[in-house]
Order: sequence, then structure tokens, then C-alpha cells
Amino acid sequence: MKTKIAVLVSGGGTNLQALIDAQGETLLSGEIVLVISNNRDAYALERAKKAGIDTAVVLKKECGSQAAFEEKLKELLTAYGIEVIILAGFMTILTENFTACYPKRILNVHPSLIPSFCGEGFYGLRVHQAALDYGVKVTGATVHFVNEIPDGGEIIAQKAVYIEPGDTPETLQRRVMEQAEWILLPQAAETVCAELQKQDPRK
Ligand code: GAR
Repeated sequence: MKTKIAVLVSGGGTNLQALIDAQGETLLSGEIVLVISNNRDAYALERAKKAGIDTAVVLKKECGSQAAFEEKLKELLTAYGIEVIILAGFMTILTENFTACYPKRILNVHPSLIPSFCGEGFYGLRVHQAALDYGVKVTGATVHFVNEIPDGGEIIAQKAVYIEPGDTPETLQRRVMEQAEWILLPQAAETVCAELQKQDPRK
């Protein structure tokens, strides 16, 4: 049986697309069975629908509290029998109440070389702005397991990307995605799925 994957998104979903493409090219042995967004307008939802993947929208505002939001997520993940959760541009922090339920089963892609430019407040273009402000010459992307510390879980894979003269947060974001994130995330997801398959002989 294939490892059941859920991808959690908030925005454009280019990393989700990289996972969908990897699955199509049989580079991913797990199966993405559910995409959950915390933003109704996320283009990632369209990408999922186009690929025939079930989608759900869970809004923190409608849930009323962080705890209720996380309970709703857990309900959905349980209903779909999800074994691996991938945060692909999911722009909200999950507390220990959630992360402790899935030890080494939640992956996140972060657009810098952790431990630089990470933790609370570092997301999306802000990460690239911070790298440019600091003046580093090399940045990159990191895929890591998610625990209760924002961007603090065990690192699975990293890839370096050079900063070029004249880079803006937007040009740098695009290069980090192209050269690192879209390659690294499907590879790391496959590493985790393959490991789970080894542990479970029924798979
Ligand atoms: C990606 O660059 C991802 O690494 C980043 O947001 C972007 C989402 O793009 N995630 C974070 O900053 C999380 N801290 P996408 O929706 O096109 O995949």
C-alpha cells in the first residue's frame, strides 16, 4: 500500500506542484490524497483539483481558536488515514498539541539554510529580504521535520543557492525555488516514504 500523504498549503502552491509532478513521474512512491489550505483563495487548491486530489479549507477564524483549528486538521487527517504531512508554504505555526501527534511524520520546506533566517516571523519573501539585508552571499532551502519549535526540527536535506548582484527578494525567491525547493522537497518526501515502507512490510 502506498504511503498516504497530505499537503498543507496557504498560497501559490509551486511546491505542491513539484510534489504532484514527482508523483506523476513516479519519483514519489507515496500518494498525495489530500490538500488542506488555511486560505480559501490559495491557488494551490486549483493545482490540487486539476490533479484530481481532494481538497479542504480550514480557517482558523471559523474554528474560533488555535486548538479548535488543530483539532479540525487532525480530524481530516485521521479520516483520510494520512501517514505523512507535508507543509508546503503553510503560513501558520502549529503548536505541540498538533506536532506531538505526528513525530517525524511532518515535513516542512523553508527558504533559507537553517539556522539562518528562520523561526517565528520568517516566512515567504521576508526570509529573502532578511538574507539580502544581512548581505550573505549564499542562501538556499531546508527540508526538516516539524516539532514544537518553529523551524527547529531535525534537518532532512539542504541545498545552497548563490545570491547574485542586483537580486531582489522576488528574484531570489524564484532562484531558491527553482534551484533548491522544487528539487529538495520531493526528494525528501520520497526519503521519508521509502523509510516508512521499509518499516512496514505490508507496504
Ligand atoms: C516557499 O518559498 C516556501 O519555502 C515558503 O513559502 C513559499 C511558498 O511557495 N515557506 C515558508 O516561508 C515557511 N516558513 P509555494 O506556495 O509556491 O510553494
